[in-house]
Amino acid sequence: MDMETQIEKLKRELNAVVLAHYYQKAEVQDCADFVGDSLALAQQAAQTTADVIVFCGVHFMAETAKILNPGKLVLLPDTNAGCSLSDSCPPEAFAAFKAQQGDCFVVSYVNSSAAIKAQSDVICTSSNAVKIVSRIPAGRRILFAPDKHLGRYAAKQTGREMVLWPGSCTVHEMFSEKNLLQLKYENPQALVVAHPECTEAVLAHADFIGSTAQLLERVTRGSESQFIVVTEPGILHQMRKASPQKYFLSPPSSDGCPCNVCPHMKLNTLEKLHACMKNRSPQVELPEKLRQQALAPLKRMLEWS
Ligand code: 13P
Ligand code: SF4
Repeated sequence: MDMETQIEKLKRELNAVVLAHYYQKAEVQDCADFVGDSLALAQQAAQTTADVIVFCGVHFMAETAKILNPGKLVLLPDTNAGCSLSDSCPPEAFAAFKAQQGDCFVVSYVNSSAAIKAQSDVICTSSNAVKIVSRIPAGRRILFAPDKHLGRYAAKQTGREMVLWPGSCTVHEMFSEKNLLQLKYENPQALVVAHPECTEAVLAHADFIGSTAQLLERVTRGSESQFIVVTEPGILHQMRKASPQKYFLSPPSSDGCPCNVCPHMKLNTLEKLHACMKNRSPQVELPEKLRQQALAPLKRMLEWS
């Protein structure tokens, strides 16, 4: 039996659902029951009837699935799959920063640990950040963490003033304005679509800004035939599948290295996916008190979405 067939067999035996983020390797995405952005994956995790959730993504995503499903087994093919953005916000430092700000409504991006979520009033993803921020009562001071770029973008879109935790994603920060302008110059017909985790200088040249699912939707329904896609290139797999006749370009990072590939997302492989299902390990676990504290703002996000 090939690896894909063995994974299908294990899915039936375990009554498991395999969820994959758009940044996963193409062959991992192709084995998943559902491929989506962070919001859609959290929504799937919240409503699944499967006994086992196999999360092909990074740790905070699998942890979110566990927060929503304490009774289910949540497997992550490689527990080293972290996130530079989540790591840029240590819980103790954030608690001290929050205490300095006085009374604030805390919005945390889902790309954060359970310990940060537990200190928040509501969670958001890149697809609903603007919507979530605009629902916060006027006059409330807002603290946004951990991504300063998404926070600045949401502040600009909503006109709300926000205090920003100075975190960022090292992958998205690697895209340079200079390289993007060069690629635009060489491909003047191409529409530029970008993820809001990019820097302000890069986003200034984007024709469309959105989460991975929103970028996929935009290029699929658009009448344009060429696109410059400024986010992790794993998303190109679904874009090419949905529109094989269209042309997609990924800008090189500032020094020409392939640093726009998320090293954490790419730790998951078909072999590790198979092994984690076979061994029912590694599992994602978290203390019950912390889970409950992190659940409240997450539930609020799902209600507000
Ligand atoms: P999405 O909200 O588009 O899934 O983004 C998640 C992410 O990790 C971006 O770097
Ligand atoms: Fe984290 Fe950036 Fe990788 Fe997304 S691309 S998982 S924010 S390190």
